[in-house]
Amino acid sequence: MPIDQTQEWQALQSHHRTVRDLRMGDLFAGDPERAKRFTLSLGDIRLDYSKNRITEETMTLLRHLAHAADVAGWKERLFAGASVNTSENRPALHTALRQRGGSILVGGKDVIAEIASVRGRMAKFAGAVRDGMWTAHAGTRITDVVHIGIGGSDLGPRMVVEALRPDTAPLRVRFASCLDDAELTSALSGLVPASTLFIVASKSFTTPETLANAILAKNWLLAALREESLVKGHFVALTSKPEMAQRFGVDPANIYPMWDWVGGRYSLWSSIGLPIALALGPEVFDDLLAGAAQMDEHFRTAPLEQNLPATLALLSVWYANFFAAETQIVLTYDWRLRLLPAWLQQAAMESNGKSVDRDGTPVRWATSPVVWGGSGNDGQHAYFQALHQGTHLVPADFLVALTGGPHRRALLANCFAQTEALMRGQDAAEVGPHKAMPGNRPSNAITFERLDAATLGALLAMYEHKTFVEGAIWGIDSFDQWGVELGKVLAARIEPELSPDGRIGIHDSSTASLIETYRRRGR
Ligand code: F6P
Repeated sequence: MPIDQTQEWQALQSHHRTVRDLRMGDLFAGDPERAKRFTLSLGDIRLDYSKNRITEETMTLLRHLAHAADVAGWKERLFAGASVNTSENRPALHTALRQRGGSILVGGKDVIAEIASVRGRMAKFAGAVRDGMWTAHAGTRITDVVHIGIGGSDLGPRMVVEALRPDTAPLRVRFASCLDDAELTSALSGLVPASTLFIVASKSFTTPETLANAILAKNWLLAALREESLVKGHFVALTSKPEMAQRFGVDPANIYPMWDWVGGRYSLWSSIGLPIALALGPEVFDDLLAGAAQMDEHFRTAPLEQNLPATLALLSVWYANFFAAETQIVLTYDWRLRLLPAWLQQAAMESNGKSVDRDGTPVRWATSPVVWGGSGNDGQHAYFQALHQGTHLVPADFLVALTGGPHRRALLANCFAQTEALMRGQDAAEVGPHKAMPGNRPSNAITFERLDAATLGALLAMYEHKTFVEGAIWGIDSFDQWGVELGKVLAARIEPELSPDGRIGIHDSSTASLIETYRRRGR
């Protein structure tokens, strides 16, 4: 039965009518235990969701909805390696990448053993490069690594490296994703070819952006090293298509495989995490995985009432489907986490930005909200105005580490104050219409002791599972991404039309005029 036809959905609709005008301020005033009542924790990660437009009954009804959508069944299938990616008929086993021990069979093979073997190779390689024991050619120590990949083959490792990068490290690791060669050129500035290692990360090894950048990198090396055979040693590939990487010219010994049951946006835990092991050390990569595994275990076993990812998902559904909130913001009060929203945009929107259910029937309910955000403190001086006084309801997640000296205390004060200001608002009768703030704007406060690898791993897994629960409730396939394909096909068609002698095909007048304007300039 479509989810919006269930009793549970309809009960939430009528409940919404009774609570939508409640003021959170009144709810706090009427219940001194409210913060405690609506706070969950796992280790030192604490989710205070009391500043939401909810009552106990709201949460109960949302949990009933989760039962109606068989979230428990989908969760079991996810962890067991069943084909939860229904449109592509394959499992989504990012949790297996973090699992220690046990076994999971896919196509008769134990993937846990395969994962352990690749992880062992990665750790050995990363350790050797960091120690200067592994050299590309002529015994020159590697000082710089340039990671080339896009989407899931870039956002995850880039964000983790930025978040945990130590002040001093044996290797400098940079990233380039975009087709605009300005990015790779900038990453290469000041680098010495003989001591630079390139990682080409592409699950499919067909992504045009990544291949074009890999060719640029190859030419940059060739110009200095002069011999193809020398260039080979400077490339490592991370891919589920090793034969294609080999065809590109990567030594089989330098290829680290991944599997088609790892979704691109869930792949930082696989060999795609190699730049993390190189930049931060293999033991830090292990800690990241261990933190994620802890969240997996919590998500798998904790009842809905205590389940952090499920609670975040239920709140998300509450606002998206009952308050018609179209966006959600993630605000990191930790500068090092500023790339988290970019990673999360892919994790959430590529997963749940769908309009048909698993059977291909159009859905009548909203799916993924638009996810946006950034460094919260910087945002205060830019877009927070709209959060406080704009016409849109934008549920917010605030993330902050509690550790730090007096300088950070001011940052923490700002973070806490923003959650209070959004909730409290300011009365027009007291301050006049221009300064009035409606308040009653919801937020989650996610705090943790310090931003270390284990905590980061747990936070990322928390958001992955939040996305999964949302998708289960919306009845969609959270693991395919067919919507990205048409643009790729059209770009491949238009590219030859941009060359001076290319034949321009049939287009609408706008696209045709873009192509012609470009071509006229070239003449
Ligand atoms: O175009 C979207 C996408 O397929 C993402 O899902 C993926 O993370 C990204 O491109 C990169 O793909 P690949 O790792 O195959 O190069």
